[in-house]
Amino acid sequence: MDKFVIEGGYKLRGEVRVSGAKNAALPLFAASILIPEPVVFRNVPDVADVFTMAELLSDLGARVERVEKGTWRIDTSSISNTTAPYEVVKRMRASIYVLGPLLARFGRAEVSLPGGCAFGPRPVDFHIRGLKAMGADIRVEHGYIVARAERLGTASIAFDKKSVGATAHLMMAATISDGEVIIENAALEPEVVTLAEFLKLSGAEITGEGTDEVIVRGVDALRSPGEFEVIPDRIEAGTYAVASFMTGGEVTLKNVCVEHLRSVLEKLREAGASFEADSRNRELRMFPGGRIAPVDIFTAPFPGFPTDMQAQFMAMLTVADGTSVIREGIYPDRFKHAFELTRLGADIKVDDGFAVVKGVEKLTGAPVMASDLRASAALVLAGLIAEGTTVVDRIYHLDRGYEDFEKKLSSLGAHIRRIK
Ligand code: UD1
Repeated sequence: MDKFVIEGGYKLRGEVRVSGAKNAALPLFAASILIPEPVVFRNVPDVADVFTMAELLSDLGARVERVEKGTWRIDTSSISNTTAPYEVVKRMRASIYVLGPLLARFGRAEVSLPGGCAFGPRPVDFHIRGLKAMGADIRVEHGYIVARAERLGTASIAFDKKSVGATAHLMMAATISDGEVIIENAALEPEVVTLAEFLKLSGAEITGEGTDEVIVRGVDALRSPGEFEVIPDRIEAGTYAVASFMTGGEVTLKNVCVEHLRSVLEKLREAGASFEADSRNRELRMFPGGRIAPVDIFTAPFPGFPTDMQAQFMAMLTVADGTSVIREGIYPDRFKHAFELTRLGADIKVDDGFAVVKGVEKLTGAPVMASDLRASAALVLAGLIAEGTTVVDRIYHLDRGYEDFEKKLSSLGAHIRRIK
């Protein structure tokens, strides 16, 4: 298993190009199942989850080609199989996204039921309830979700709480149907909005994306829009912004969408960071900051503070001038990184759904273990400011979602290397 070895104490300086958003690319790839024609996606990040989704589509019989770095051509006209096997789904929960599109186009799908994950139970009940409401017959057999539907139809679906995955998934499934599907309490995340834009360019009839109520009027078939560009990764961008501030550095982030980063930037400003966006809001220049002020964080659905930035902020707040409280509003158990950060000298107490982070003078390097994707990033950030050497084990988690992480950090002056 690969590890990162980090020598702490170097300020980050220079420019970094933010990659395309993994969490936008994955549903877009799945949506290509609805379109029996070639589609070209640009600005796709080279991360393990994208390769897993590509492998899954290939297994289904699609022709999937990585034309060059960032550009993929997907042609699902040749799909012959409708089963997403356990071996793939266990590696990536987002495999569930193929269920609805397969069902809508072929009337059948079998997708292994995803299990829990490192930060607690992650049910897919909203996805299943939504498809059932659209008229699908769904059973669980031998660990697989087995779905059948002649044709999906009219439904009114209201989620108990906002779900990015269920909103994106049901929106895709509803595009090819005989009725009108209303999704209430829909997620507002930019990844949902861009998916809707892609589907609409492909001929889908969708209104209300980016609001609480999304309405999809079914059509008979979708056509390829030709090409589509993946939006910048707001979590990767946020991670570099935090890294710049906490190392006292001066990093310019290129290819960002500042509008998607509002809540993260607001918290960074509250913590003492200063930065400036260019006039098009596509570039963010971080200035060297002073001391880190403690801030309280409450993770919530977009436009709230993203749970996927919680671990990185915790790493930063370990050396703040005072005590911060972090409340997890999405995944109450998503605090495994806290225990690893304490190995570096952090003072963190975790209770039911929240963590109290008391700033310490400094962190000191130690071997630590990554438990999930964003936790890995947090441990690397902590390593950048810790005195001495930090070794982060199990970085395969990180490779799922950060393109060229150590290369980008090295180009900014970090002392980080990968050992096999
Ligand atoms: C997506 C992101 C993930 C991010 C999360 C929350 C992708 C591939 N992943 O995950 O990085 O951390 O949004 O922003 O885009 N829930 C249910 N039943 C369901 C579905 C969800 O109870 O059927 C709950 C979850 O347990 C969680 C909350 O709803 O408490 C939100 O989860 P959701 O937005 O669905 O997360 P994902 O789409 O899986």
